[in-house]
Amino acid sequence: MSLPKLQIACDHNDLPSALSDIKAVGDIVDILEVGTVLLLQAGDEAVKCFRALYPDKEIVADPKCADAGGTVAQNLKNAGADYMTCICSAAVATMEAAAKEIDQVQVELYGDWTYEQAQEWLDAGIDQAIYHQSRDALLAGGSWGEKDLNKVKKLIEMGFKVSVTGGLDVETLELFKGVDVYTFITGRGITQAPDPVKAANDFKNKIEELWG
Ligand code: 5RP
Repeated sequence: MSLPKLQIACDHNDLPSALSDIKAVGDIVDILEVGTVLLLQAGDEAVKCFRALYPDKEIVADPKCADAGGTVAQNLKNAGADYMTCICSAAVATMEAAAKEIDQVQVELYGDWTYEQAQEWLDAGIDQAIYHQSRDALLAGGSWGEKDLNKVKKLIEMGFKVSVTGGLDVETLELFKGVDVYTFITGRGITQAPDPVKAANDFKNKIEELWG
């Protein structure tokens, strides 16, 4: 089992504050994400700035694309993204069109989806999934637990590289000990911490402690 990667999700409302966090923790984390909120605010300029700062780093853009997959992927690739997300309710044709233009498409699992659909994504060559707790659901009182762990395990058994995200803190990682998680994606756990550098190091150290 390899060490899960750590990805920072930048869901800032403006580009300068995202860049400030990226400059602080970019060398600690493995993957940089231009989150949905930032992408809506700053567009592909955000991806271009991330790429200019970190020419060799893996960069994900998170449009949660539902349609026009090929065009969105081409635009994000041109801006410097390696990977992009599609929402799970998108047509497989949208995911396939995106996958032709960019290195990886990651399916964002929100709301209702089935393992039959998941098999269709695999059959189409899309083998990365993001298991997501929506921030709104968490704010409404949801929490991480066995039900999530079981779905993540099942997706891994099916052959997906599974990333886990949504309101993660360092302690939540313990739930996944012994599970072959591909990436932990954290936004506010780093960007809204009193000391983002310490927070990023705490996540890395916890991953090393649990999977190293
Ligand atoms: C929101 C997202 C976020 O980028 C992801 O959930 C990580 O953010 P946080 O750790 O702040 O929940 O995809 O749609």
